[in-house]
Amino acid sequence: MMLKIKVPASTANMGPGFDVLALSFKLYNEFIFEDSKELIINTPNKRYNNKNNLVYRTLVQILEEKGIEAPALKLTMRNEIPISRGLGSSATCILAGVIAANRYLKKKMTTEEIYLKAVAIEGHCDNISSQFFGGLTLSMREEDRIFYRKANIPSGLLCTALIPDFTLSTKKARAVLPETVSLTDATYNLSHAMLFVESLKNGQFKDLKYFLKDKLHEPYRSSLIPNFDRIIQKAYDLGAYGAFLSGAGPTIMILRKNEENSFKKNIQNYLHTLEDQWKAVDLSIDNEGTIISQD
Ligand code: HSE
Repeated sequence: MMLKIKVPASTANMGPGFDVLALSFKLYNEFIFEDSKELIINTPNKRYNNKNNLVYRTLVQILEEKGIEAPALKLTMRNEIPISRGLGSSATCILAGVIAANRYLKKKMTTEEIYLKAVAIEGHCDNISSQFFGGLTLSMREEDRIFYRKANIPSGLLCTALIPDFTLSTKKARAVLPETVSLTDATYNLSHAMLFVESLKNGQFKDLKYFLKDKLHEPYRSSLIPNFDRIIQKAYDLGAYGAFLSGAGPTIMILRKNEENSFKKNIQNYLHTLEDQWKAVDLSIDNEGTIISQD
């Protein structure tokens, strides 16, 4: 058998949409499962070529829950998404592990069950929703259920990811968040998130800068990222519609005009003046989500 799973990168939170909003991109991790007499895991990074590999661990966990021993297999990973940078790389591994487990379970899980299982293992629904279903997603939990909706973004928007050479784990980035927030901050985010989504959907990009402000996670996490405020300010000086911390960071995501060709060159020149290495990468929106091919 051969199973190929292609999962897009995503940017979660998107300003005030902490743990709710995410948008997927045409930047992919690809996972290929084949029959084998022994376990072989081939990834671009040797560190992950063993049983601790998140894809393999997820697959084993699900099969064990169903009382099935994991078969010997060959897993080949082709990674375009940088690891631990706030672009949903680990969520792609979890999704691939769940989808592959379902293949070994003779496809007994429904699409809904695969989605719910991946969310349960990942812990948050934002990245998984947009990576599985594609595009801009809004998702939430209520009464042990996860609800999601897809929203269309009209053309005219380009995203540029500013990706540093240092990593930040979600665990560390969640540890700096407060346990509780004030009513003022909660209301602030609620208002901003609603205007942000409504404006995105309507293609009214010019005020996004105001709606993208956040009081739930960026003020706490930005201290973990050297020059965060300066980079955001520079992006706005160069004409960006919006700039926010991507997921748990450290990548900074820029929303900007499609036709503004000089932006990437100018922000990259600025990033070269900083002590850390940063790379500006243009990303277009993926609307397909996860693609599975098999024989
Ligand atoms: N919403 C999550 C967070 C994304 O910001 O912690 C990372 O899983």
